[in-house]
Amino acid sequence: MINITSPGAYANAALTPLEQDAVKWLDGFYQLEHLLCTRMWAMKLSPEASAEVKFASLVHDAERFFPGGPPSTPGNGFDDPDYLFAHSTRSADIVEQWLRDRTPAPDDAFIRRVRHLVLRHEIGGGWEADFVQAADSLSFLESLDWITVDWVQNGHYTIAGAREKLDYTVERIRPSIAVAAALPLYESAVRALDAAHEIKVDLKRRREIAGSRRFLLGLSPEAETAGASVR
Ligand SMILES: [Fe+2]
Repeated sequence: MINITSPGAYANAALTPLEQDAVKWLDGFYQLEHLLCTRMWAMKLSPEASAEVKFASLVHDAERFFPGGPPSTPGNGFDDPDYLFAHSTRSADIVEQWLRDRTPAPDDAFIRRVRHLVLRHEIGGGWEADFVQAADSLSFLESLDWITVDWVQNGHYTIAGAREKLDYTVERIRPSIAVAAALPLYESAVRALDAAHEIKVDLKRRREIAGSRRFLLGLSPEAETAGASVR
């Protein structure tokens, strides 16, 4: 069975004002839940995580929200460097531009560090980038188990083909604390994928939830209006 998120699952995420703005920017993105979950894992793995690690975790896949990027279901394997580098560079460019367009913009050192970590989120390298990559991996297994089922149901991959994504996601993790945390999530995601043809969950609705800021942060329409009038 795939993981079903409850309303307000990220209500206590303690987002900074900058992070709240980023979540508004990415509202409607089917990976919004994955991004929030990645930030949560980064903090779980490393309670002392820097502001840059947390922010990079929250926006690392941003480019997929904006048309024109490389296909997120590559045909040359999930570890295809051409895809990984194109995806990471486009995300870093889009995030950097968004940060620089703010008034006032965050300081240059913050922007450059976030860019560095977004660029490295698929490949790791250096302990902070390794933690972002590990958090991304854990978050994929936990929050995007439904997407591998979707790939199979819509004929994009066979079960074995989609399994390669789950295997790759675990194999690339470096910090041992994260490997230990990944194994039960991996087993659960594999079980869901193996049952892909039998799972009857409404994946269209699951995708909507995954992209809904209001659902994930547990915002009522009234609360949003009140928040807007305070700002
Ligand atoms: Fe990701």
